[in-house]
Amino acid sequence: MTGNQEPSTTALLWHGDHLALLDQRLLPEREVWLTYTDADGVASAIRDMVVRGAPAIGICAAYGLVLAARQAARYDDWRALIQSAARTLAGARPTAVNLSWALQRLQSVLNDADDAREAIRRLDLEARAIHDEDVAANHRMAEHALSIMDHGPFAVLTHCNTGSLATGGYGTALGVIRHLWHQGRLTRVYADETRPWLQGSRLTAWELQQEGIPVTLNTDGAAAQILRRGDVRWVIVGADRITANGDVANKIGTYGLAVLARHHGVRVMVVAPSSTVDRSLSSGDDIPIEERGADELRMIQGLPIAPDGISVYNPVFDVTPADLVDVIVTEQGVTWLQTPSSL
Ligand code: MRU
Repeated sequence: MTGNQEPSTTALLWHGDHLALLDQRLLPEREVWLTYTDADGVASAIRDMVVRGAPAIGICAAYGLVLAARQAARYDDWRALIQSAARTLAGARPTAVNLSWALQRLQSVLNDADDAREAIRRLDLEARAIHDEDVAANHRMAEHALSIMDHGPFAVLTHCNTGSLATGGYGTALGVIRHLWHQGRLTRVYADETRPWLQGSRLTAWELQQEGIPVTLNTDGAAAQILRRGDVRWVIVGADRITANGDVANKIGTYGLAVLARHHGVRVMVVAPSSTVDRSLSSGDDIPIEERGADELRMIQGLPIAPDGISVYNPVFDVTPADLVDVIVTEQGVTWLQTPSSL
């Protein structure tokens, strides 16, 4: 892994023999690109949040497996080595299903390869296809979403970061928000800061500000006060896993936000590619929820903000029950979970 300079409008760049990642831990203060040449490095980057966001980590895992194949090619047991790397990549983070979904797609093309050279070629093509399809899906989701929203203009509130930094490009919920803005249908975006990792303040506010989209940053705790004022018509969020019954795992705080939205008569839209839908799980109770280290709450930039040794509970995702979600938008279309009566 080495540091260098790359353009900042995307989270990841694939160069065929290495993967470049914009280090999201350092944004917005510094734009540093890191270079990865093996699967273990990519797995660490996903685990340590150099790259994050469900679709982006799926795409990175796919490219990570291509790197594994390139390294395995000189050994007789190349296939077993690639499969071992796939297990390492799949274990990097537990909640977003996009990671195992992407790796399963690559494993199935691996089964069709008779030699290591062919495996590299097929895996590379499939990883690039996953990346391209994600960008195309984001644009389709934005079009589907706008087709069911009233003309506006209105304000929206979002949580976490679901933009170019979290996907192959453009974004899921943030793609919808970008599209609303370009169509003249958006007055303002309220961005929850998204404690504790601050994806909202460090990433979403940065992405939107760079494009001149009006954004107001608020603490997560201010959401109720904002929704009460009445100018926000939609809460628009992404997802890390959607189960067969429509339950949605997303960044911690989404569940509470959905409760607030229902209380204030504000619609909740979940925007995610079909790669985020996990029909093998019947409900959100079965989704593994990642817990991260205590220091994410005890410290900010290495400075203590809580008593030394304090007990901490830090689940970084929650599950919003389907009955609090109004509509789920994927690239395949729109699914209403509640009656669209008052639109
Ligand atoms: O912990 P993170 O930053 O990977 O969590 C990201 C989210 O929860 C996003 O809302 C989700 O992955 C959708 S990104 C298009």
